[in-house]
Amino acid sequence: MRSKPLLVAVGLTAVLMGLVFFAGWLFGSRSGEDAAAVPAPPRASAGAQWHPDSLLEPQIDAIRRGVPVDQEGSPPPLARVENADLKRVRAYPMQPPTIPHTIDGYQVDKNSNRCMLCHARANAATFQAPPVSVTHYMDRDDQFLATISPRRYFCSQCHVVQTDAQPLVASGFQDIDSLISAQPGSE
Ligand code: HEC
Ligand code: HEC
Repeated sequence: MRSKPLLVAVGLTAVLMGLVFFAGWLFGSRSGEDAAAVPAPPRASAGAQWHPDSLLEPQIDAIRRGVPVDQEGSPPPLARVENADLKRVRAYPMQPPTIPHTIDGYQVDKNSNRCMLCHARANAATFQAPPVSVTHYMDRDDQFLATISPRRYFCSQCHVVQTDAQPLVASGFQDIDSLISAQPGSE
């Protein structure tokens, strides 16, 4: 029989293929069990609540607040606007200050500007409001106008109300004062 070695080779190959298949089947089913045994992370459940700790974990999309992409999270409650008349420190000198009072119903349109009722220089004393600074009267050529500059007319373009919202992403921003005091040799 000239084909005997061939038959042996075919037989061996078949046995080997069977072994590989068996090993694959065993390994595959094992890892399936492992995956099932891992408890689902708490926030992976549907309707997961937002938690500040989720901001510390590395995420692909921080806006999803840790909810996996294949699940729908429940949105956090709307931030509450603070009305405490407490000014917040500015992060840098030319930052538009945040508004320390609510602005609900304050109309700003072509005909009237409710903000300027209190924040115009002429009315500031009556309402005990800080008048808008001189930059608000300057046009783009740095010329001073008698009335508020059209560039500064729509206040909420730059000024926002203060809310109790938590930051969505962590920030390592340091203002200039903390940078200077961190320098060796500074008093
Ligand atoms: C009824 C009067 C009044 C109106 C109307 C008003 N404000 Fe004020 N605003 C104040 C007073 C008073 C303060 C000083 C802090 C306080 O008492 O809340 C102030 C403070 C501010 C500050 C903080 C300034 C700083 O130096 O930190 C900003 C910014 C501001 N207002 C923006 C606005 C904007 C924008 C509007 C319109 C959407 C507006 N205000 C409408 C009275 C008013
Ligand atoms: C284009 C952006 C921009 C717009 C629009 C704008 N502001 Fe400002 N505002 C600023 C910046 C920047 C500052 C801080 C630097 C400065 O005083 O120029 C500021 C400062 C202020 C301050 C504090 C002034 C001080 O002396 O501390 C008040 C009050 C204010 N703005 C009110 C208003 C009101 C009211 C309006 C709408 C009529 C308005 N702003 C529109 C950018 C803007």
